[in-house]
Amino acid sequence: MRTWNSIVALSCALLACFAYAEEPIVIKFSHVVATDTPKGKAAERFKELAEERTHGRVKVEVYPNSTLYKDKEELEALQLGAVQMLAPSLAKFGPLGVREFEVFDLPYIFPDRAVLTRVTEGPIGAQLMQRLESKGIKGLAYWDNGFKVMSANRPLHNPEDFRGLKMRIQSSKVLDAQFRALGANPQVMAFSDVYQALQTGVVDGTENPPSNLYTQKMNEVQKDVTVSNHGYLGYAVIVNKKFWEDLPADIRSILEACMKDATRYANAIAQQENDDALAKVKATGKTEVYYLTDAQKQQWRAALLPVQKDMESRIGRELIDSINKESAALGYH
Ligand code: LMR
Repeated sequence: MRTWNSIVALSCALLACFAYAEEPIVIKFSHVVATDTPKGKAAERFKELAEERTHGRVKVEVYPNSTLYKDKEELEALQLGAVQMLAPSLAKFGPLGVREFEVFDLPYIFPDRAVLTRVTEGPIGAQLMQRLESKGIKGLAYWDNGFKVMSANRPLHNPEDFRGLKMRIQSSKVLDAQFRALGANPQVMAFSDVYQALQTGVVDGTENPPSNLYTQKMNEVQKDVTVSNHGYLGYAVIVNKKFWEDLPADIRSILEACMKDATRYANAIAQQENDDALAKVKATGKTEVYYLTDAQKQQWRAALLPVQKDMESRIGRELIDSINKESAALGYH
């Protein structure tokens, strides 16, 4: 009888080990935008690749549209290890104490995507990611979204049109300075709260790439959109540093390759996603989509370029100059 009991006990122990070996590594990937956006689609692509290439040893649970965490909570949750992966806007790292990322928010800092890519895929981007490590965060990649449009319920053709408007911004001192330079009243607000705030008049207008404006239905409560491309919005894909370093080396290596492929995909679709979203806004016929004249573009630049100088003490003149040197290397002056 004792032998039989020993066999049963040993079998249960083996089954338990086998069951344990089957437990997948779970990556909770939380973000605040709709699935049908560059970031949303790239998160799904990473999920597909990671689960396929690890043969199920990794399970990625994507929580889009602030369904798990809103703006502010998500970074805290990552540092606590309650979520493993995020892709916050580069405009949202100031409260974490990594204010240098706000360089991406400076009006007109990127003349085009080519300059942006030289920064995100070069030493400047790598050095910025390094600054996250002391916060228990590992930066994996930069995902693109696009250049921002402005929206409100009045035409925004000239800088003075912003005077007195309550404009929603992300948690970035650079964006605060941007709207103050236009005589507007910036209001930091979580992305998930923007539609209702626009609908109820808590704020008058906002800025975002068209893909965010359209997928959050902001165009339904904004009669006027100006295609200004005055600033850029992109993302840092980040993980909890301890989680990442504790992964089995083979798994981490596979996930790094998946992230590279998901990043290539994200950056390949971003412009088209935004072009399509803007076309859909126009097609509704309910929102005026306005393109600045060359003279107006010059007025906007004259009003907003001083923000770069004003923000040197916060971001660092050297960092701003290094990005402007990348522009000069491509012939921009
Ligand atoms: C915003 O808060 O406006 C954006 O950062 C949302 C996003 O993540 O694209």
